[in-house]
Amino acid sequence: MAIGYQNRSRVCDANNEIKMKKKISLIGAGQIGGTLAHLIALKELGNVVLFDVAEGIAKGKALDIAQSSSVDGFNVSLQGTSNYEDTKNSDVIIITAGVPRKPGMTRDDLLGINLKIIKQVADGICKTSPNAFVICITNPLDVIVMALQRYSGLKKNKVVGMAGILDTSRFTYFLSKELNISTNKIKSLVLGGHGDTMVAMIKSTEVDGKSLEDLINSGKISKKRLNEIILRTKNGGAEIVKFLEKGSAFYAPAASGVQMAESYLKDQKKTLPCAAFLKGEYGVNNLYAGVPVIIGKNGVEKIIEVSLSDEEKVNFNKSIQAVKDLYSAAVKIDPTLGKD
Ligand code: NAI
Ligand code: 2OP
Repeated sequence: MAIGYQNRSRVCDANNEIKMKKKISLIGAGQIGGTLAHLIALKELGNVVLFDVAEGIAKGKALDIAQSSSVDGFNVSLQGTSNYEDTKNSDVIIITAGVPRKPGMTRDDLLGINLKIIKQVADGICKTSPNAFVICITNPLDVIVMALQRYSGLKKNKVVGMAGILDTSRFTYFLSKELNISTNKIKSLVLGGHGDTMVAMIKSTEVDGKSLEDLINSGKISKKRLNEIILRTKNGGAEIVKFLEKGSAFYAPAASGVQMAESYLKDQKKTLPCAAFLKGEYGVNNLYAGVPVIIGKNGVEKIIEVSLSDEEKVNFNKSIQAVKDLYSAAVKIDPTLGKD
């Protein structure tokens, strides 16, 4: 049957709409990459290019998600590839290329292999998308995002790491279950490195307008129980790795990455805990670590310095030291990372 004028013009409108959309490239089409692609399509944040060295995985997932467009009613294009040329002029790039944890492994155990992978990714994106906002998710997060910035030479305010949103979201979820209150009534922050030393910021946490100290004093939660929740947050990734046996968490990490991309693309200027480059903030120089940042159309627009209790300061500094030590281990593997 010939396509009628009205239908033809609707097809043209839909195609024009797609052409005007932002371009989001996902480097790594594994568990997180595929989930990112699906969420981005559902939210119509932009056209998606899924890149992976395993080309079939990227093509297969792109096609699978595209085939759900008429069911879910989204209108973006999805393409799978193993050619960086296809990611050219991306507005946003989200990197998950790498190897995830296996049971018993720490995030730090991934350093050697993921460092090599991130160098390849940096080479692939730096010339093709010099103006993109780049979100790194690959572990060990703080060191890998710093290596990515060094290898790529991209601007520091345009290269940022995702971890704090995930860690904060886990802490918030566990608190909500314990206190039997909706997560949207809890404000919290988990800062520092994305590792065993991450710091849940008790002083910055509010539950329905009350501080955690108030809740302890009124007997709503004991100090012991709070400490158990903090420990569970730190082990949040390992708990899931143990259940899955193969691979690590991907739904919550993908949702967290999408929140950062959306704040940039829509200039929402949300304050989000992310791994950002510090130049003296929190007394830290020349290092990526998890702090609250404002993300808007210029990338990381501001680093917010919240006041820390004495205990939080001590723990935050320990976490920073752990990131520094791991970065020194990275420099031993590749001495070029020692140069600014
Ligand atoms: P996955 O194994 O499912 O996917 C990784 C993909 O990267 C694979 O499809 C693989 O073919 C691809 N890949 C490998 N080398 C590549 C290269 N040179 N270029 C392009 N693609 C390449 O892993 P998953 O679960 O998606 O996790 C990805 C990373 O994210 C891991 O390092 C994991 O530890 C990390 N992660 C970080 C979190 C965070 O909060 N920052 C949370 C959860 C995971
Ligand atoms: C997570 O926290 C493994 O970093 C990953 O789930």
